[in-house]
Amino acid sequence: MKKFLVSGGVPLYGSVRAQGAKNSALPILAASVLSGGVVRVHNCPRLSDVDATLRILEHLGCKTERVGDTVRVDASAASGSEIPDALMREMRSSVVFLGAVLAKTGSVRLSNPGGCEIGLRPIDLHLDAMQKLGASVYDEAGRIECAAPRGLKGARITLSFPSVGATENIMIAAAVAEGETLIVNAAREPEISDLADFLNGMGAKIAGAGEGVVRIMGVKRLHPTEHTVIPDRIAAATLLAAAAITKGEITLHRVIPAHLEPVLTVFRQCGCEIGIRGDSITLSAPARLRSVKTVRTMPYPGFPTDFQAPVTALLSTAAGTSVVIETIFESRFKYIGELIRFGAKIRVDGRMAVITGVDRLVAAKADTPDLRGGAALVLAALCAEGESEIRGIHHIERGYEAPDATLRELHADVRCAEADA
Ligand code: UD1
Repeated sequence: MKKFLVSGGVPLYGSVRAQGAKNSALPILAASVLSGGVVRVHNCPRLSDVDATLRILEHLGCKTERVGDTVRVDASAASGSEIPDALMREMRSSVVFLGAVLAKTGSVRLSNPGGCEIGLRPIDLHLDAMQKLGASVYDEAGRIECAAPRGLKGARITLSFPSVGATENIMIAAAVAEGETLIVNAAREPEISDLADFLNGMGAKIAGAGEGVVRIMGVKRLHPTEHTVIPDRIAAATLLAAAAITKGEITLHRVIPAHLEPVLTVFRQCGCEIGIRGDSITLSAPARLRSVKTVRTMPYPGFPTDFQAPVTALLSTAAGTSVVIETIFESRFKYIGELIRFGAKIRVDGRMAVITGVDRLVAAKADTPDLRGGAALVLAALCAEGESEIRGIHHIERGYEAPDATLRELHADVRCAEADA
């Protein structure tokens, strides 16, 4: 087990490149089982969740290899249809293999990893959709089996909530189903469009990805392709927050500024100056951040739930009172108890956090409850004068590529050390 030792109070400066998007890379790698050959995925971030995805691919009969930031998946021998419980539990988003394996082999058996740190995370929308596409679905005691021995058939699927994972599973499965599929109330996250671009690169016929209605005309088979994963908007936003909370100034290269607009709006409201030039964003922090009235998480293009914890850390040092409302996941405030160790003044009432900004945070020892909660704690530690200790950093490494090295490039004093037993 490792921990981060952070000596805070140092304004960040300099420039770095944004990493590839975790939430694009995972479904893209899962969908590569349908390629029938060798797929190359460029700008693929080095994350433990990506490693877990590659282990599942290997288990299904694929050969995988990483060279630099490119992952090569040879799916020519992919034939497995079962994902063991141990692999499913390594990563909650392994459910994105559901549609890919079902479409590839005509059946899939996996376990439902159940709830996680941020909430219940049911997969009813995924299973209902597979049923609409003609699969039989057995779901009992955490075991899930879907079968469509004669192939899947296109259907009109209206999602009661624009679930990112369900939209991805449907797009992947419907890409090789017979006939047309319509997803109504589809998720519009940029990662959905990236997955559609990848699938279309393999010969799929998907239109409207990134909009509320996605139309998929099924094709007989897909073929190998190469794809470059889009930049990670959440990782990029977290680095901008690190500059903002330390009163620094940084430039991020290789981002898609439009994808960051919902969070840039909040940075501006806090008094940060944002400069955009092509695919680069520069953030200059004010001497003191200002509070914002309300931040409410919403499906894209709303404010991302994945940035809720980092923005709460940021607002904990802003002048005035801010309110953050979490509408997507039911238990996404677990990190707040740890943030309070740094001197943050936050009151949680159900899905609402009321943050009274303090002048300064103090160094603390804190335990990371989940990926984005961990990012919030690192932000607090970067701001607090003195040495802080962040334990449980394996959560953070699920979604942030070499976070300590990246922060050091921006002149932060962050070291990785072995945690005491
Ligand atoms: C994805 C992202 C995650 C992000 C989330 C919301 C990946 C790998 N993960 O997660 O980082 O926080 O989108 O932007 O891309 N729901 C149901 N039934 C279902 C599916 C979802 O009730 O079958 C509910 C969930 O409990 C949650 C909401 O819908 O309350 C959003 O979930 P969803 O959009 O599916 O998130 P994920 O795809 O799991």
